[in-house]
Amino acid sequence: MLTIRNLMVFYENALALNDLSLKVKEGEIVGVIGSNSAGKSTLLNTIAGLTLDLKIRERRKGGERITVMGRMAYLGKDITEMLATERVKQGIVLCRERHPIFPESNVLENLRIAAYLQPKARFRKMVMYIFELFPQLKGLRRKRAGFLSGGEQQMLAIGMALVAAPKLLLLDEPLLGLSPAIQTRLVETIEEIRNSLGITIIIAEQFARPVLPMIDRGYIIENGMLILTGRGKELMNNPEVRSAYFGV
Ligand SMILES: Nc1ncnc2c1ncn2[C@@H]1O[C@H](COP(=O)(O)OP(=O)(O)O)[C@@H](O)[C@H]1O
Ligand SMILES: [Mg+2]
Repeated sequence: MLTIRNLMVFYENALALNDLSLKVKEGEIVGVIGSNSAGKSTLLNTIAGLTLDLKIRERRKGGERITVMGRMAYLGKDITEMLATERVKQGIVLCRERHPIFPESNVLENLRIAAYLQPKARFRKMVMYIFELFPQLKGLRRKRAGFLSGGEQQMLAIGMALVAAPKLLLLDEPLLGLSPAIQTRLVETIEEIRNSLGITIIIAEQFARPVLPMIDRGYIIENGMLILTGRGKELMNNPEVRSAYFGV
């Protein structure tokens, strides 16, 4: 479904992704594991097209701050030069890190904003599905999003990604800052989303412990470089992975 070949991203002269190649098959949940600053967000932002948008904006201002090299293909088509909005229409939807919601708007309004490209009937169906997935959001649908707990905000952020009709859903550290109990529930829900909607998922996380059991395959990155890849179970039993990414 997604093939990335020899991706390099520079911010000024700093290399954020170094010769990274990666493949995601339809229906898979793929993990991208790496410590802080490893390049996880850069990778997801580049898949979503945000890095290209940023590069174009910087160039308009007269700078050449960002360099992107390598090729990306999605559903058999080269998308390396495709803008972010077009990628969303093609089904590549990113849920950015730290619960990117509109705090002044209520839960339903947030979902509506995120679904602006979608037909109404589809939106209504999806909202029903989201409230089944996260029953506690249903009771909060008229509440201002800024007043939700961290876990509820993350559920809303995932809901906002879902109403945009993803085929490939990119989740950037969805478990960040949540309690272990809520992390466990979210992990179950992410699997449920894949199983019931057949959406392909890439999940980036700093800590491997909660995500390794759910992923089909994982890529471990350090300083923008791929250092290890394997099936979830293989990575889980790898002593280096355990010592480096099983901390709290
Ligand atoms: N917009 C940016 N401008 C300059 N440097 C950036 C920018 N975004 C990320 N970086 C740098 O790129 C590296 C990778 O960052 P990032 O992709 O955010 O890592 P992660 O998400 O794994 O924490 C870091 O060294 C970070 O400081
Ligand atoms: Mg990040």
